[in-house]
Amino acid sequence: MNRAIANTEDAAAVVDSDRAHVWHHLVQNKPMQEGAPMVIVEGKGLRVWDINGREYLDAVSGGVWTVNVGYGRESIADAVRDQLARMCYFSNSAGNIPGAKFADKLIEKMPGLSRVYYSNSGSEANEKGFKLVRQLAALKNNGQKHKVIYRDRDYHGTTITALSASGQLERKDQYGPFTPGFVEFPHCLAYRADNGDAPDYGVQAARELERVILEEGPDTVGSVILEPVTAGGGVIVPPEGYFETVQEICTKYGVLIHMDEVVCGMGRTGKWFGYQHYDVKPDIVTMAKGVASGYAAISCTVTTEGLFNEFLAEPSETLQYFRDISTFGGCAGGPAAALENMRIIEEENLLDNVNKMGDYLMDQLHALKDKHEIIGDVRGKGLFVGAELVKDRESREPVNESVAAGVVANCLEQGVMIGRTNRSIPEYNNTLCLSPALICSKDDIDEIVTSIDNALSNIQM
Ligand SMILES: Cc1ncc(COP(=O)(O)O)c(C=O)c1O
Repeated sequence: MNRAIANTEDAAAVVDSDRAHVWHHLVQNKPMQEGAPMVIVEGKGLRVWDINGREYLDAVSGGVWTVNVGYGRESIADAVRDQLARMCYFSNSAGNIPGAKFADKLIEKMPGLSRVYYSNSGSEANEKGFKLVRQLAALKNNGQKHKVIYRDRDYHGTTITALSASGQLERKDQYGPFTPGFVEFPHCLAYRADNGDAPDYGVQAARELERVILEEGPDTVGSVILEPVTAGGGVIVPPEGYFETVQEICTKYGVLIHMDEVVCGMGRTGKWFGYQHYDVKPDIVTMAKGVASGYAAISCTVTTEGLFNEFLAEPSETLQYFRDISTFGGCAGGPAAALENMRIIEEENLLDNVNKMGDYLMDQLHALKDKHEIIGDVRGKGLFVGAELVKDRESREPVNESVAAGVVANCLEQGVMIGRTNRSIPEYNNTLCLSPALICSKDDIDEIVTSIDNALSNIQM
């Protein structure tokens, strides 16, 4: 369906301005200099329209797992507008009404945690976690226990330190030197592990964390940061026993667990948070994208009361507290949007929908796998699913990146936006990614899966 969006002259002028002056994220800008960049102008539910009026079904929630409650939510826009008209901003050295209310509601969903620190991007929320670990080491451990362990294939953000904590070589390449004190341990993707078929693979993969802690020296390691389900590194669902073993190891060596819920947070996997599928008790939880579904920029670093208490000191001790500020962490529109976003997820029973539609999506993708040899593996949790493409099922050799890109492009031609691992792991940018909004229906899923089916039927290897 095409929709009249703007007159042709306006559209051409906007496209020209974009082409002339906007530097787009993540993608090569050269093709846009030659062709027309896509400009998205409107959205409703799972549908978006470009400036030429062409409609698309967005199966990736704004490209990067963000618009969880779907587009065009007037009630969120109203909540933000009302808040901004009343009190737009004051530094978070003071409180604001939606900030207090959202923290209260959020903590209700996170037993064992109790403090919310506001900032405005996932990277920044993670940086707060790293700063807490570093300062805790300085305050309590003579500067020891300052290292952060991270996992191969996980991504934790775009700043130099968040990249230092990321296990995606193509994101990191050419941006070093990196921040010292960040150490990698292996991923837990059974499909790509030599011992992936072992019945206790989850435990074995987690034991790699212990190996690295012991190599570094437990008295130097402060925390481990993990995505509950790895997103851009290939949609990796932790194998059985993994997080339970991570918990056991971290308890044993006094290592804090930092869960990066930037993608999984707020319902994407069928529970409020991804870690809640497992028997694990994080000390730090970070979240961003789905917190306000992209209607406002907000991120949160959530900690235990115990960790918060470590930073309480007499006012005379001027350097003994968390001396951090995020200017826009004081924007009151963020928590206003987050409160309404949470209300929608609850009132519309969206967690339930994620579980039902997630099962349906998995079934449909498994049926596609039966039909198309090129699909080597299908994995995911809730409405967060990936299909890894291979040249040959036996050898599991990944397809060239251009093949995955071709599938995405073909789906787009059919009016369906799907994603793929992109500038992530060398040779392994071969996983198609699906993360439709939590409101999606069976009909939406059928449309998404049919487009992939068509694209795979047309593919030239
Ligand atoms: C797991 C994870 N953590 C952190 C980030 C960084 O978030 P932001 O881009 O908001 O800084 C991302 C972004 O994609 C992410 O996927």
